Amino acid sequence: MNIEVCNKPITEIVCDTLIICLCDDLNSFDKTSDSAFNHLITEFIRTKPASKRYHEINFINAWLAEGYKQILLLGLGNKSDLTSEKIRSAYAVAIRTARKAGSKIIAAILPESDSNQLTAENIIANITEGTLLGSYQFLYYKTEQKESKQIERLIIVPAGNADLRILEQAANTAKIIADSVNFARDLVNHPACYMTPTKLAEYATEIANQESMLELSVLSLQQMQELNMGAILAVAQGSTQPPKMLVLKYTGDTDSSELIAYIGKGITFDSGGISLKPSNNMHEMKGDMAGAASVLATMKALSKLKPKVNIIAIIPCTENMPSGCALKPGDVIKSMDGYTIEIITTDAEGRLLLADAVTYAKKLGATKIVDIATLTGACVVALGSIASGLITNHQPWCQQILAAADSCGEKMWQLPAFEEYKEQIKSDIADLKNSGGRMAGTITAGLFIEKFTHNTPWVHIDIAGTSDTSADRNYHVKGATGVPVRTLIQLAINQARKNED
Ligand code: BES
Ligand code: ZN
Ligand code: MN
Repeated sequence: MNIEVCNKPITEIVCDTLIICLCDDLNSFDKTSDSAFNHLITEFIRTKPASKRYHEINFINAWLAEGYKQILLLGLGNKSDLTSEKIRSAYAVAIRTARKAGSKIIAAILPESDSNQLTAENIIANITEGTLLGSYQFLYYKTEQKESKQIERLIIVPAGNADLRILEQAANTAKIIADSVNFARDLVNHPACYMTPTKLAEYATEIANQESMLELSVLSLQQMQELNMGAILAVAQGSTQPPKMLVLKYTGDTDSSELIAYIGKGITFDSGGISLKPSNNMHEMKGDMAGAASVLATMKALSKLKPKVNIIAIIPCTENMPSGCALKPGDVIKSMDGYTIEIITTDAEGRLLLADAVTYAKKLGATKIVDIATLTGACVVALGSIASGLITNHQPWCQQILAAADSCGEKMWQLPAFEEYKEQIKSDIADLKNSGGRMAGTITAGLFIEKFTHNTPWVHIDIAGTSDTSADRNYHVKGATGVPVRTLIQLAINQARKNED
């Protein structure tokens, strides 16, 4: 979809649907456009005051001016309660409604802003994100629906004499971010027969080839053997798909020795291995590479946004399959770090790849680490599909991530990492075991990874509950959500701002 900013008089813009936002305590639409429509809007609001309520959608179906088929009035509620998240959500719903009505070209009047919190730039970014995220569809495997019912253009019309260049820039940035969230969604929505470790490596190659600030290396099975990556190799040994370790380095600040590692769990299918999962819902485990997808998509966005920061993406990819040569419960393996691990269940495979990825990140000079993983069912039980669960060994670093998440509307909640929990992952015969049992499963999984950080500032983000949604919810569309791409991008941008000071 094309996003355009245009300051032509509203009656001269040709579109299928014109979206006008209504707030409780102001006329947020440009008064001149109301008079252009013979005060029909003011009249409508007078007869139906409820149309200003948040999430209310009303159509005025009239050929008001040349080119207009309909006006969509979008209620935003109380202006003083308005947030970025509300604008994204409301717009997502409005756009889907307009699409259902068959609209291909949509014009939107930018609501006026008079608060410092929500600048015109914020609002235009929120509208762009809400529109692009809310209208996402995954049609790759649909033979008939590909062409029809797609919105082609969104034309945003600022009120008054706004600085077009600044608004355009805000819309462009938001589009890069939203497009990369949708890219992550695509990667996750593809089935495991297509999205293999080799395929993920191909996507990484494509991204790296487009931008000189990105440098890619893909470790093969043999190279992983040479590096003694015993933990990821143990998971991979049961599969016929060769594993890949993707390393994508973005250098945006050559003056800085700071290097942030983004590590994403890339299990392209998690059957559980010999500790086989129950068959109902096993198909959902094609999404066990959502962490990998979010990191790859973030790198794609960074290569376009070019913030002054250094980020290294480390993406361990493999399937987790049962077979005659698969890892077995009771086996003891040796990680790259040297720690021995007793395998209690082959279904606790994610923490094994992440252990080697953390060790490799440190070897490559990472000074701060974030890992993103669909790691535990326990996290879904604790936080549902609303919030991701965080574990850290470094409170200030965790605080930075929580702040970035908060500003883009991705909900995250920190869980405690008390020493006492570490008892649960002590093994009788090895240095560690890969399952701490049912109790506090998200925390013990996190603390397993922590063991490999050796005090490098680290945050673990468990997205098992948030990486997909079973129903459309605001700007999330049934299927993969692309969480936490926006947080990872924002974190990089915030870090770049710090570097500039
Ligand atoms: N990929 C799963 C976690 C998961 C569950 C993600 C539900 C998304 C939705 C992970 O590899 C796993 O199987 N974890 C086990 C760990 C346990 C055996 C210690 C789990 O959560 O049951
Ligand atoms: Zn898994
Ligand atoms: Mn598993």
